[in-house]
Amino acid sequence: MCGVFGYVGARDPLQVCLTGLSALEYRGYDSTGIAGISQGKISFCKKAGKLSELKKVLSFPPLELAIAHTRWATHGKVNDQNAHPHFDASHSIAVIHNGIIENFSALREELLREKALLASETDTEIVAHLIAKYYKGDLVRALHSAMQRLKGAFSLLVIHKDHPGELVATARDCPLSVALDAVRTEGIVSSDPNVFFGTNFDVIFLKASEIACVRKGSVDVVDSELRKITKKSERIAGSFTVPSKEGFEHYMLKEIYEQPITIQKAFLGRYARGVSFEELSLQDAVFRNTSKICIIGCGTSSHAGSIGALFLEEFAGVFTSCEIASEARYRPLLLSPDTLVIAISQSGETADTLAALHEAKKRGCTTLGLCNVKNSALVREADGALLLQAGPEMSVCSTKAFTSQLTTLFLFSLFMGQIKKTLTQERLLLLQEELKTIPAQIEQVINRAPEIQRLAKKYARHENFFFMGRRYMFPTCLEAALKLKEISYVNANGYPAGELKHGPIALLDAHFPVIAFCANRQTEEKILSNVMEVKARGAPVLAIASDHFKQIQKAADDVFYIPDSSDSLAPFASTVVGQLFAYYIAKERGCEIDQPRNLAKSVTVE
Ligand code: F6R
Repeated sequence: MCGVFGYVGARDPLQVCLTGLSALEYRGYDSTGIAGISQGKISFCKKAGKLSELKKVLSFPPLELAIAHTRWATHGKVNDQNAHPHFDASHSIAVIHNGIIENFSALREELLREKALLASETDTEIVAHLIAKYYKGDLVRALHSAMQRLKGAFSLLVIHKDHPGELVATARDCPLSVALDAVRTEGIVSSDPNVFFGTNFDVIFLKASEIACVRKGSVDVVDSELRKITKKSERIAGSFTVPSKEGFEHYMLKEIYEQPITIQKAFLGRYARGVSFEELSLQDAVFRNTSKICIIGCGTSSHAGSIGALFLEEFAGVFTSCEIASEARYRPLLLSPDTLVIAISQSGETADTLAALHEAKKRGCTTLGLCNVKNSALVREADGALLLQAGPEMSVCSTKAFTSQLTTLFLFSLFMGQIKKTLTQERLLLLQEELKTIPAQIEQVINRAPEIQRLAKKYARHENFFFMGRRYMFPTCLEAALKLKEISYVNANGYPAGELKHGPIALLDAHFPVIAFCANRQTEEKILSNVMEVKARGAPVLAIASDHFKQIQKAADDVFYIPDSSDSLAPFASTVVGQLFAYYIAKERGCEIDQPRNLAKSVTVE
């Protein structure tokens, strides 16, 4: 998390950095700050809160270059002192940082013993002091010496008052890219390779403690041994424009409404009489020989993965498990060489997912990334990648990326079914035809948003919710519960419906509503019994059920009917109901919807 950005070049560094910050604010919004060099001095401005707070106090002389930071707090409270940039004692050096310095406590004690005056509680400030300690006129060397003392995964961007034309950047297991414009008049450093403003850029990605010294139109890179290296660059169009809500009150609502289109984008061109993925560089033989699949991801992406695992078992007959990435990486038998590892990530930068991907590669697994961001680390590092094509997702709470992940996983499982010959041509065509009806189903749900808003109003006063479901509806209910807790700050737990009686049912009473996801034909009778069981304990029940399942009406207090579909495709419409329910509850409770407290869109620390 945290966004790191820097600019040196012909344009006004302050203005470019402000644009950079607004584009990177998704990475954290606890505080923002900018530092720049003007007439041999470092000027800075930093403020707790969102970029709008910084803008209220912004005042700078004309700058020769500037660095800018948006923070997601790890070390130290959210306040002005802990906002980046951080400085050495003489204010000669300014540092901004993303990631964690793991040996920060020991280094802090060492500096305090040496009588360093520290102004913040952050790990970043330690780095500024260390660089100052090693500085003898060469900023790259000083940073290199400081790096020898640092443990962890992080990126750093450093300036020095005596080097008014240089941005010095480094990254260890953390995303950081450097861009030079095509006519070589500027240099930009950014945590996000899609956040460069201009026409075309040649972009290099720093890794393995490489250090780049970026000047107007040129960059010198050294490796971790200080040897000069030449890095291959990629041409990237810098046509990034700050997205708009297009009349919607929130990005989240806009992105929910986009889903009929984004789902189509995820399937169009990928099937005719069978499924194929143009961008997939892996040979069919890899998939033919796959005997086990492990899907990894975090949060919403892992919920998509859990549904994907059910698709793969149903259509391709391959044993598939979905694991939380931060856990999977520590389980040696899970990631054996015969395993296809599918890493799912909207951003493609989630540290835990990337760490698990690296572990899988080390253990000889073939890796496939499912990602929404084309230049991301996941796409670059996986053996093959499938793009979601959902367009930028601005709301921290993921919605359209999830349904695009489901669409892509559904198609991939049909693709595997073709290769494994577990699907007849007739069934394959039927499933493809049914997938085509999903955008219209979602449209129907969206058209009934006012009904969902009424239900949300009724339930909004409760502080605790259970979400339950069976089979395809279990991960679906986990995702709906996550939406509710992250934007409404209410306690919402998802459970397999059959598990309630093994403990959690003890919590239920008239103040503890249950949201029952019932759109799974195979288990309809069972979920009906589960609804009766919770009703018998006095809990209010809202059921989300398929159109034909009228028996549920007698048991539940409220029912929202969705169009009938086969079990595997029911997660789509059910999810959209869950998204709108969470949205309207958050609105009713007056919560900040697009940037919920304590969260960030891209989670780049483990
Ligand atoms: C929830 C949400 C998060 C992300 C998770 C993984 O709405 O957005 O749970 O799904 O942080 O992020 P990605 O998919 O970028 O790896």
